[in-house]
Amino acid sequence: MHFHVLTLFPEMVLGGLKTSILGRACDKGLISIDAVNIRDYTTEKHNKVDDYPYGGGAGMLMQAQPVFDAYKSIAEKYHRKKPLRVIYVTPQGSVFNQDMARAFAQEENLVFLCGHYEGIDERVLEEIVTDYVSIGDYVLTGGELPAMVMIDAISRMVPGVLKNEDSGEFESFHENLLEYPQYTRPEVWHEKSVPTVLLSGDHAKVDKWRILQSIERTKMRRPDLYEKYNLPGRALEYLKQDKLLHMDMIESIKRGNGEVLAVRADGVLLRDKKSNIHMVTAENKDAGERLLSFADTEAELFVCHQHFLADSVKARFGKKSSAACCQAVYTKKIPFSVDWPWEIRTLDESQIDVVYENYHELADRDELLLALKEGRIYGAFSDEELAGFIGLHEEGSMGMLTVFDTYRKQGIGLTLEKYLINCMLEQGHTPYGHIFIDNQISLLMQRKLGLKICPKNIFWVY
Ligand code: ADE
Repeated sequence: MHFHVLTLFPEMVLGGLKTSILGRACDKGLISIDAVNIRDYTTEKHNKVDDYPYGGGAGMLMQAQPVFDAYKSIAEKYHRKKPLRVIYVTPQGSVFNQDMARAFAQEENLVFLCGHYEGIDERVLEEIVTDYVSIGDYVLTGGELPAMVMIDAISRMVPGVLKNEDSGEFESFHENLLEYPQYTRPEVWHEKSVPTVLLSGDHAKVDKWRILQSIERTKMRRPDLYEKYNLPGRALEYLKQDKLLHMDMIESIKRGNGEVLAVRADGVLLRDKKSNIHMVTAENKDAGERLLSFADTEAELFVCHQHFLADSVKARFGKKSSAACCQAVYTKKIPFSVDWPWEIRTLDESQIDVVYENYHELADRDELLLALKEGRIYGAFSDEELAGFIGLHEEGSMGMLTVFDTYRKQGIGLTLEKYLINCMLEQGHTPYGHIFIDNQISLLMQRKLGLKICPKNIFWVY
């Protein structure tokens, strides 16, 4: 990558940049920095480059002619396929940040125009400048220091400039978090010890500690950056890549219950606050292990979205059982037409006995009582007699569908689910359910109602 600096003080720019890491990068040919002295291009016989502003006012302005001709000397050599990107460093520009550094590092050539005195004749700026960039809301005496700051930050993003390719990315401002605290030898200094977790050799634990430190530090020191960190937003971005597999996690977040515990480029872990269920998805076992290090050690119930995660959860949290399920999602937005002969009503606590009697294999009495108290179970009535019911589990999935023997084969089950889907749609939710993989009857019914079945299984681990 080639940097070209249009300046009245080339020695300042080159002296400041051609040392240390950037000096080495220049020697290796990874970057080049050349400074073009604007004064060399003036046609004025006393070598003047500035003059008084029209209309009066304080100070002098740099004239258009020498700036333009200095620019042309570069453009003639380097402007080939693509117009040159010319950055005018000025307090009037957009404020430089890490994202801009990353974007500028994609260019093959970058020209920096450094102003001095009170500024530069507007007409030449209009002709050559593509970007107006500031380094902050304060005024310096010239553009050289800002240009040097930007060149340093951009160069670090050029592959090979930093020894460790990773370190340009995993540091302050990556993902809008500040860097965690770092320690080196000796282990104890001024009676202060290095945090023991860093000596443990457990990479997952170290990762977790560092991320939590980064989060805390950002919250304290840069609340403005912390706002942008936006864990739920980033989690949703990942989860939406496979909506059918992740709808339970997506809905948990969207309904305001999902506390995102960790997000990576290859997975997400969250805790549904209402049900206290942990939900996890990852692209490989290693990513899964790292995510699971953020789970509560006392966690009782997990929904794993890959088989290898179920194995990890069993080993890590001492769980013995798991059940494979299919996730069914009603992806349409249109509700069912209400054309059934049964009355459907929300059940209350007085119906606990009949609900518990008919649905006790998969839920305990307290859970069902809570669902009734919260109005999450709906009953179909035929001539004022309860014929069956359906409910919403605490984490938000549809289930508990039960039709009493004497009322079977009349379409009551289908009706109850249509009713619940309509309720969910009305509240702006996406209806979904988890069905045991061997429950062919239910799977058939989901298809009949138009729900999509995710081809990948999920695993409840407890
Ligand atoms: N020139 C003078 N002050 C500046 C600033 N804050 N950023 C960029 N260029 C400048």
